Formats: sequence, C-alpha cells, structure tokens
Amino acid sequence: MFKIIIKNTYQEVSEAANEFMRELLVAKKDAVIGLATGSSPLGLYDEMIKDYQNKVVSFKNTVSFNLDEYIGLSDDHPETYRSFMYANLFSKIDILDENVHLPKAIDENDLSACEEYETLLAKYLVDLQVLGMGSNAHIGFNEPNTPFESLTHIVELTNRTRLDNQRFFSSLDEVPTHAITMGIKTILKAKKIILIATGVNKNQAIYDMVNGPLSIEVPASILQQHPDVTVIIDKEAAAKL
Ligand code: F6R
Repeated sequence: MFKIIIKNTYQEVSEAANEFMRELLVAKKDAVIGLATGSSPLGLYDEMIKDYQNKVVSFKNTVSFNLDEYIGLSDDHPETYRSFMYANLFSKIDILDENVHLPKAIDENDLSACEEYETLLAKYLVDLQVLGMGSNAHIGFNEPNTPFESLTHIVELTNRTRLDNQRFFSSLDEVPTHAITMGIKTILKAKKIILIATGVNKNQAIYDMVNGPLSIEVPASILQQHPDVTVIIDKEAAAKL
C-alpha cells in the first residue's frame, strides 16, 4: 500500500521528502541512504544541505548508495552520476568519500562490476531509498520488461529514456546507450522508500504504478508489494489519480 502525499509546488514536494530524510538522520547517526540522480530529488538535496548548514543533521557517519551510473562517459564528464552527486550534494555536506558508493562498469560486458556492487550492498540495509521515476515508470534504470527478480545489472537504455535525458547533453548521440543499475529486487530490499515525481509527463506512470496491475511493463508497479513506500508528488503528477 502506498502512502501518497500531494503538494502544490516542487518546493513543497522537496520539503515533504526531506522530512523523511531528516527524521532518519536525526534518529540514526549511521544511517544508510539510497540516492537517485535526475531532476526530481534536486530540491530534496537542497533541503538536506540546508539542514546540514543549520546543524540539524550531520552526514559524518552516513553511508550512501546510488542507484545507477551511465557507462561510457569519461570520469571527469560532468554528466556522470558521480559528478552529479558531488556537484549537487556530496561536496556541500560532510559525508566522507569512503562512505559514498556508486556502481561503476567499464563497459556493457563488465558483469563483475554488477556482482561487486551487489555483494557490497548485501552487507548493508538501506534505511531510506530515494527514488525518482521515468515517464515510462522505470525506477533506477530498470526499464519496462526488466524482471522483478533482477539484481544489479547492465541495461541498454530505451530511446524514450535517452530522449528524456538528452536535455543534459549537447546532442542525442552523446547520451550513453548503456548504464549499470541496482536491480528491482535490490531496490525493494530497502526498509523504507520515498518516490518523488512532479509534472504532467509523469502522471500516467504514477497512475499505472498506483492503480494498474502488477506488470513488468510498468517497473514501478512492483512498489505496490513493498510494505513502506511514500509517493510524494505535485498536482500535475497526481492529475490522473
Ligand atoms: C536516476 C534514476 C532514474 C530517474 C528517473 C527520473 O538515478 O534512477 O530512474 O529517477 O529517470 O528522472 P528525473 O527526475 O530527471 O525526471
């Protein structure tokens, strides 16, 4: 069962998401947090930075795991998810580099990178996983038709996802074709999940996730089976509910 929070503005969505993060970080100094990239969690990250600056929370003992990473970009490319996380969050808080984890595959055949990330994750329990969602209802980079049993794996990105992400690159050709991602089963191991989505282009996916049948064509529909998922959305994303 989902808990659904509907807000008027992106700022209110971000603040509502941060209430979950703050509650965890205040209660548990060595919290394990699962993080996403993309536009959806940016406002949440700004709120986390403010809480850190106001000494409400510290990340000194926090451990983070990101969902996914592109394959094929050079390490210093500004659009790697590692660069994104440092630019938008990690460089502005006191998290230790050694406690930051993102998957990293050398190429699309690098299966050992998947095993390594999964083995590392298995040593932790993610207390709070932050998710965004694609307009095709992907979570992480688990595109439609990914088996629900999937662990960390390498995916070929769909055209729709590459087009959605083209805005961060100078041309479609530059958008990577592959990524490494936590699997759906990996994501579902988190104790608590918050999913952030805003805007009209997410409203069909939100409807299908909440009301639709459980289907691998709608990866986020598997969240119906998780015991503790809160969906935090704006009115536009909620329009079809
Ligand atoms: C990113 C990720 C993706 C995004 C999704 C939505 O780490 O896992 O599933 O959450 O593509 O992206 P935005 O928030 O940019 O609409």
